[in-house]
Amino acid sequence: MKLEMEVLNLDGSVTKDSDVSRCIEYVQAGKIVIIKKYLQNAGLMNEITNYVFRCISSLFGNEAEQKIQSDGLEKIHNHLTPEQVKALYHEVRKELKNKMPAVTASMFREFGVNEEFFVHDASIIRLMLPYAEQKKYEHNTELGKLTLHGPHHDFYQNVPLNAINTWIALGKVQKENSMFIYPDCWGQRIPQGKDEAVRNDQYLGDPIEFAMEEGDALIFHSNHMHASRLNSTDETRVVLTNRITLGKPFYPYENKPHKYFSSNGFKPIADYEGIFSKSGFIGTQQPVVSKLRTKVLKLKSKWVGDTLSSDMPPVDDRSRADQGFLAEGEFSQLQEGQVRPLNKGTCITRLNGELVKFGRYCPHQGADLALGYMEDGQIVCPHHGAKFDVKTGEANCDGLRQLIAKG
Ligand code: FES
Ligand SMILES: [Fe+2]
Repeated sequence: MKLEMEVLNLDGSVTKDSDVSRCIEYVQAGKIVIIKKYLQNAGLMNEITNYVFRCISSLFGNEAEQKIQSDGLEKIHNHLTPEQVKALYHEVRKELKNKMPAVTASMFREFGVNEEFFVHDASIIRLMLPYAEQKKYEHNTELGKLTLHGPHHDFYQNVPLNAINTWIALGKVQKENSMFIYPDCWGQRIPQGKDEAVRNDQYLGDPIEFAMEEGDALIFHSNHMHASRLNSTDETRVVLTNRITLGKPFYPYENKPHKYFSSNGFKPIADYEGIFSKSGFIGTQQPVVSKLRTKVLKLKSKWVGDTLSSDMPPVDDRSRADQGFLAEGEFSQLQEGQVRPLNKGTCITRLNGELVKFGRYCPHQGADLALGYMEDGQIVCPHHGAKFDVKTGEANCDGLRQLIAKG
């Protein structure tokens, strides 16, 4: 298979490479890799999208299916309500769970991983509706899958520390509906706040942004700090995800192991003709963690408690000491586009040479905008990427409250 990679480096630069045997090496070094048109090259694009359309038609009838076929999955919100999208998410999951481990195993073999590795059994379709639609769900419904998951390490949810994530686009992914990955946090363990995400005042550095075409596969290390991006576009973002571990899964919290399959149980994908047209599991089920072991660990945790592995990366509780309030006498030092807190409730920046003040907390979920950055006259929230005009307070999408403009 001839594949092209786009490598997003930690310094924000992008390089191209066609030697996919280097993919794992890049990912282990914290780089983010996009395999261009992976699904088309693997001969799976039509199979998977047809499967999704079959699910739509079985749940909502032929007419809805045809309308979505003709407008594209990105416009699904024009034809289904958020609750219907949620039903679709559950329906699609049923067979994905049976098929994607084989697809994922095949992909990593394509990258030249020949020794045994382990594939997570929980493959998911993530449908992120435009924000005004998405916010109709109850807060925290299927975090990161249907609603926004704030900046987090996957190990907050007991994802193995040696897991590598796959994130495959079933439709176009735009910068404004993709994901944030925070390169400055690579190699650090940032403390957890509420809702399985960092605290609102946590400094994370500037995120890497990216866009993808349908069929592209994004590969990144699960230890990366990352967040769902608030979808400010008028398109639904549809991706499929899965993950593997190189070597046996290594859990931060031992007592809640997830289910992984040995790569030895899967043949090359080409050997499974029409896999999405058949029902049932593809491959040989070889769970790594036996039911007995899971029971023993659960029992043990009752007595010993839930312990965090001592092999976790070091804690870095980044303070905002270098983000102190800007005193009036220091205004002249403020550079164009630089953002500083002026006091507890106000930020200040310089826009086209002029000083502009605005409210400090994001109207979405209250992240500290003093830790955000300026782009085209707008402050970008560091947590889910909503943007607000600093002069008028206007948000960049429907459904968001305005930011307080302070002149
Ligand atoms: S807190 Fe979510 S975009 Fe600001
Ligand atoms: Fe995640």
